[in-house]
Amino acid sequence: MRDVRAAKAFVEKHRKRRQSNKVLHGHPSPMHWAEQDVPMDAVLRARERTNREIPKRVNLYVGTPYCLPTDPDRCGFCLFPTEIYTGQRQLDEYLGYLEREGDLFRDHFAGAELASIYFGGGTSNLYKPHQYARLMEIVGGVFDIPADIEITLEGIPQTFSHDKLAAMKQCGMNRVSMGVQQLDEELIKASGRRQRADQVFRTLESCRELDLPISVDLIFGWPNQTIEQMVRDLETVAATGVAHITHYELNVAGRTDFARNRRGDLPSQEENLEMYRAGKAVLEACGYTQVTAYDFERRDAPVPSSYLYEELFRKPFASNGSGPVGCDAWGWGYAGISFFFGTPQSPGWAFMNQVRVDEYFRCIREQRYPVMRGFHYTPADLRLHLLFQEMQGLAVDRAAYRKLLGRDVVDEHAVVWRALEEIGWVTVSDDAVRVRDDGVFYLPLIQNMLAHDRLEEMRRQRPATTTSPASVAEATEAPAHA
Ligand SMILES: C[S@@+](CC[C@H](N)C(=O)[O-])C[C@H]1O[C@@H](n2cnc3c(N)ncnc32)[C@H](O)[C@@H]1O
Ligand code: SF4
Repeated sequence: MRDVRAAKAFVEKHRKRRQSNKVLHGHPSPMHWAEQDVPMDAVLRARERTNREIPKRVNLYVGTPYCLPTDPDRCGFCLFPTEIYTGQRQLDEYLGYLEREGDLFRDHFAGAELASIYFGGGTSNLYKPHQYARLMEIVGGVFDIPADIEITLEGIPQTFSHDKLAAMKQCGMNRVSMGVQQLDEELIKASGRRQRADQVFRTLESCRELDLPISVDLIFGWPNQTIEQMVRDLETVAATGVAHITHYELNVAGRTDFARNRRGDLPSQEENLEMYRAGKAVLEACGYTQVTAYDFERRDAPVPSSYLYEELFRKPFASNGSGPVGCDAWGWGYAGISFFFGTPQSPGWAFMNQVRVDEYFRCIREQRYPVMRGFHYTPADLRLHLLFQEMQGLAVDRAAYRKLLGRDVVDEHAVVWRALEEIGWVTVSDDAVRVRDDGVFYLPLIQNMLAHDRLEEMRRQRPATTTSPASVAEATEAPAHA
């Protein structure tokens, strides 16, 4: 950004446009992960070398590819790579391949300490009760699983049953994340999901009986959704006492049904902003505190909600008494996304596994890493990535940034911060840059401003890859989670 005027003009130009939800991922978007022949041996050697300088635990994501069929396809909105579930045989076969991928990586993770585990997808609660122990056994074939770490499984309301949840708990899973999206049964029909509100309440009740912490994901900005409907959903979910609610703005992109056929039914950007403001106000009034751009935690929960996997994902570096420490994020399985960050001087790689299950299987049969493409970080890209991740937590710690990266984040992006302070979206103080008020809603736009010059440079050097499905290019939530 040339100067404050140009930065403010950028905001004016883009604030009315629908934001692609870059808030869910870091820098750069996987659209720019153009390296198709990721030199995995070199990547793993670099990981070993740099982990001697900055020791890292492993924040583990384990993917499952399959989802129940819907009409429209992929729930009408989903940008994640998935394949249609046709029966139990697929899951048995998949678990065999997952185990074999573990064999390929086992030696490289020898002695590695797990920080947390997240079973995501796709739909990770399609498994039968006995298969949750099998999933844990597969992980246990590569890592020692410490007794006290957070182990989450994510799924949809209609395929959680009391028996399944009990089996998950029995084998050590200690947190559930439920993708509810909408409680309103008329609205949920737009996504083709055969999901009923009573299944949501039944799952919450089972988790309470089993003493199993659970969080709920909701989406606002749905086709034909009104603020009143959104408020009703939020109040109903809050009344259950659930400790953690994630409230995402619907990301509309790619070749999804909502992007192609329902644009006219979507709330405008101004209406989405109103929804964001109203949603935050309702949740605060119901006893929740906003902890990230989209996470809300109940203030009086008997056990504070834990979402360590996501926190570690957002903060891959930290410090302890003896210096910097960190976390590698390993995405094991179909479409898994990994970040093996090294040091600020040798920043490492991000890479993504195959997003077609037959390709994933083929690589493993041929004893090859099932990696589809990746990105080799430069120091400048690492700084942007860490900044983006930290901003999702609504504050950037200036001293920590300086200590790890040797620069002052305020000096580095002085023009952008000045413009955003004048607009009222950030405050800058001696200790932190804080995102505030509507700036939280506009975080993807802020991130675009911060990365603007670097992205221009990347576009000049190499056009973004066009070889993979748009769905992949958009999908990075690992996790939101993936
Ligand atoms: C990919 S889903 C996987 C879990 C499960 N299959 C489900 O549908 O809930 C994980 C979360 O990503 C979020 N998500 C997926 N697509 C999204 C989109 N287009 N916009 C906003 N959030 C999205 C949803 O909140 C969802 O709960
Ligand atoms: S939203 Fe969930 S259930 Fe629907 S296609 Fe995406 S991953 Fe599958």
